[in-house]
Amino acid sequence: MRRHIARAWTGAVALAAGAAVLPLAAPGSAVADSVVIGGGPVQVSEHPWVVAIASRDRFGGTRSGQFCGGAVVSRTTVLTAAHCVDSGVLGVPLSEVRDLKVIAGRNDLRTSEGDEITVSNVRTNPEYNSSTNSGDAALLTLAKPLPESYVIPVAGRGDAAYRAGTIAAVYGWGDTTGGGQYANSLHAAHVHVLADTVCEEAYPGSADGKYLAATMVCAGERQGGKDACQGDSGGPLVAQGRLIGLVSWGSGCGRPGRPGVYTRASDVAKILRIRG
Ligand code: ARG
Repeated sequence: MRRHIARAWTGAVALAAGAAVLPLAAPGSAVADSVVIGGGPVQVSEHPWVVAIASRDRFGGTRSGQFCGGAVVSRTTVLTAAHCVDSGVLGVPLSEVRDLKVIAGRNDLRTSEGDEITVSNVRTNPEYNSSTNSGDAALLTLAKPLPESYVIPVAGRGDAAYRAGTIAAVYGWGDTTGGGQYANSLHAAHVHVLADTVCEEAYPGSADGKYLAATMVCAGERQGGKDACQGDSGGPLVAQGRLIGLVSWGSGCGRPGRPGVYTRASDVAKILRIRG
């Protein structure tokens, strides 16, 4: 699964930097992937807690340097995936990235609308395990506060929104086809929260990775077709008005029997002490 994420990101780098060297095709991704796949365009003004994580230095300026998503959890903090700020994705250690930004209120990444805010501090979840991908979360501190209206509450442990069958939405500027078509504007797809057993059976610990219910959330559609995809990582999974997950990993995108795996927001909220 580590491999999986690295591959995702080589894809993003290749796209943004115009590099031609890296293989995009993943096993199984060419045929079955239909991917935010299976959703449609939405307006960031209606979902202001969705932000892009960006570095023009690392990923080029065409799409504002976007390479991951995030969720505004307080006026000065954004949750994203821990793997988004590791050197596997960034290509260099985080300390060497001088222009890490959070972009809020920008629907189309080719424009300069909204706010581009410098990240003044990054705190990776101390319980993040990059080999199992457990606890895949990092907290970004913003140099300038966002409006209170941008903030989305984080679901607590045992929140009803985690119940299997709940409808959730996933947001991002990532691949919409599974073939490296990165979106210029924000997309969202509706998916169902699935029982942990569905992902435990899909991901028992083979090459794709192992699903760990304590720190991960399973969501998707049994028949496939709707999912997050590469470039959506760190972005929000929202149900009943609360943040329940962050895009973390999966096998391909939108494949039947291969749901999306999300960082369990209630778990990291506690670790990162966002909510006291
Ligand atoms: N690791 C990917 C990224 O960095 C996210 C993959 C999510 N995949 C999925 N099928 N839900 O953007």
